[in-house]
Amino acid sequence: MTDQSLRGVLIGCGFFSDNHMNAWTRQDGVTITAVCDLDEVKAEATAQRFGVKTIYTNAQDMLATEAPDFVDVATTVGSHRALVELASGHAKTIICQKPFAETIADGEAMIAACGASGSTLIVHENFRWQRAFTVMKAMIENGDLGSLHFAQFSFRHDYDNYVNQPYLAEIERFTIMDVGLHLFDLARHFLGEVDTLSCTTQRLNPIVRGEDAFTAMLVHTSGATSICDCSFYSKVAPDPFPQTLARIEGDQGTLMLGQDYRLTLHTGSGAREIDAAPAVPSWGGAPWQGVQDSVMRFQNHAADVARGQADPAPSGADNLKTLALALAAYDAAETRSSITMADWQETTS
Ligand SMILES: NC(=O)c1ccc[n+]([C@@H]2O[C@H](COP(=O)([O-])OP(=O)(O)OC[C@H]3O[C@@H](n4cnc5c(N)ncnc54)[C@H](O)[C@@H]3O)[C@@H](O)[C@H]2O)c1
Repeated sequence: MTDQSLRGVLIGCGFFSDNHMNAWTRQDGVTITAVCDLDEVKAEATAQRFGVKTIYTNAQDMLATEAPDFVDVATTVGSHRALVELASGHAKTIICQKPFAETIADGEAMIAACGASGSTLIVHENFRWQRAFTVMKAMIENGDLGSLHFAQFSFRHDYDNYVNQPYLAEIERFTIMDVGLHLFDLARHFLGEVDTLSCTTQRLNPIVRGEDAFTAMLVHTSGATSICDCSFYSKVAPDPFPQTLARIEGDQGTLMLGQDYRLTLHTGSGAREIDAAPAVPSWGGAPWQGVQDSVMRFQNHAADVARGQADPAPSGADNLKTLALALAAYDAAETRSSITMADWQETTS
């Protein structure tokens, strides 16, 4: 690779992969040479939609033949460990969708495999790449809020996700492992590492197997507190889905992110609106533009990482700490206790 152009492959041609492919195929200097799915019909449909020349139904065959610069794993979590371990032997950069692993043991094995082969593991954690959160981060780094002491990240809606992602209704561990990971990543991104965590879960919609709502309280090592809350059974009109609403407070001011990406900075001298709305991609549309725009931003970053021009954000090792919060949140909810993260250990069954 001398001209900084990248050759990538995609594994998993399901619901969310359309966002990956829409973003990759519009990125300068990136070519997706092949796609793979166990289901040939899905692989063929994706290849046709995005003008990809070659399809595979076996990831091993694809990686051995294509010798890509990067591998984009867009399958559901059950296959992540095997695919990342396989990919680490064939490409320098591995991108894995969240949740990147179901257990700490799996996550550690994936990080070790990439480390042993000298490849870089990036987790497709796109919420911190949403435009509003990049604007808020820049303002906080600029000192606009002063020293932070509180944050809330809230994802509450009644959108029928089960049409596009039927597996969400079937999994035993649902909202903490699905949206909770995003919210905990935001909490760590803005307020740093977590000292203690408590959490409650609720099962509200009778059609789901796992919890479809949770409320977690995190105390960060800085002393700041954050609340991460999520519900897939909240009646609000208009429905904010798929927006995350947020509030971050410091000793100099408060940033509030409301519906329709309305961002306001409150200080002692009044309130000021800030433009934080994502652009609607040419290939996208409401209500998905915030997600679509964040996938493009994340994948631009992933390409920079593959070119050696940026460090992964987040890396597998970083995201392992977010995974630990999610797994500990289930333990906290089950034992109705506050968990000290330094003492927490994964329970193996
Ligand atoms: N970051 C986000 O905002 C966001 C949003 C939605 C979904 N996701 C994540 O994206 C991932 C995929 O979700 P989805 O809804 O697209 O799932 P999906 O079930 O629609 O698609 C997954 C595809 O992977 C294929 N697959 C599974 N194992 C494979 C293997 N070993 N080799 C090749 N193909 C294989 C399946 O056949 C399926 O077509 C999940 O981890 C989900 O949590 C992330």
